[in-house]
Amino acid sequence: MPTVAVLVGSLRRESINRKFAEAVAKLAEGRLEFQFVELGDLPIYNDDLWEAPPASIGRFKNAVEAADAVLFVTPEYNRSFPAVLKNAIDWGTRPYGQNSFAAKPGGLIGTSPGSTGTSAGQNHLKSVLNVVDVVLMGQPEVYFTYKAEQFAPDGSVQDEAARALLTRWVDRFVQWIERTSEPKTKAQANAA
Ligand code: FNR
Repeated sequence: MPTVAVLVGSLRRESINRKFAEAVAKLAEGRLEFQFVELGDLPIYNDDLWEAPPASIGRFKNAVEAADAVLFVTPEYNRSFPAVLKNAIDWGTRPYGQNSFAAKPGGLIGTSPGSTGTSAGQNHLKSVLNVVDVVLMGQPEVYFTYKAEQFAPDGSVQDEAARALLTRWVDRFVQWIERTSEPKTKAQANAA
């Protein structure tokens, strides 16, 4: 089963984006394995830290590189995406020539309580993902206005329209990963 490194751009305990990502993970069960990657222990990017890099940096880069795909789940902060995500992306792309995101199939979703559901934030993030060589799925777009009643107590999506949208997104993302993955070497295939 393809693995997906999930990068959630919010560190707070009650993050709606984290809950949203967990709900999508449930919908993808049996087809995609979501692996949530810790971003909160990455220091603010500083090139000097490469002299003796904190373990969190290697752990983060390995987690992205080992996954078959990467999923960005972004809140919207001031009509853009949060620094937590930009910081993680910056670490992932360095040292020069060792970009952990290179040619990685990618997805992008996000939620906010507001009516535009992170559309501005996602569109800023898209331009960065393009530069860092993530092979980003363009459709369907998921600009999700979060309402607690759409989710059951176990975290699954109970609202029918939301469930249909997100199931269609999962279907397309499974196909996207199949279609855009670069062929694996024999050694990589054996290790998978
Ligand atoms: C926000 N929020 C917000 N919402 C939105 O729809 N558009 C925006 O531009 C902003 N700007 C913004 C800036 C900052 C600094 C904060 C802290 C928040 C509200 C935001 O959508 C809300 O706090 C979400 O709950 C954040 O997502 P998590 O942390 O719950 O996943």
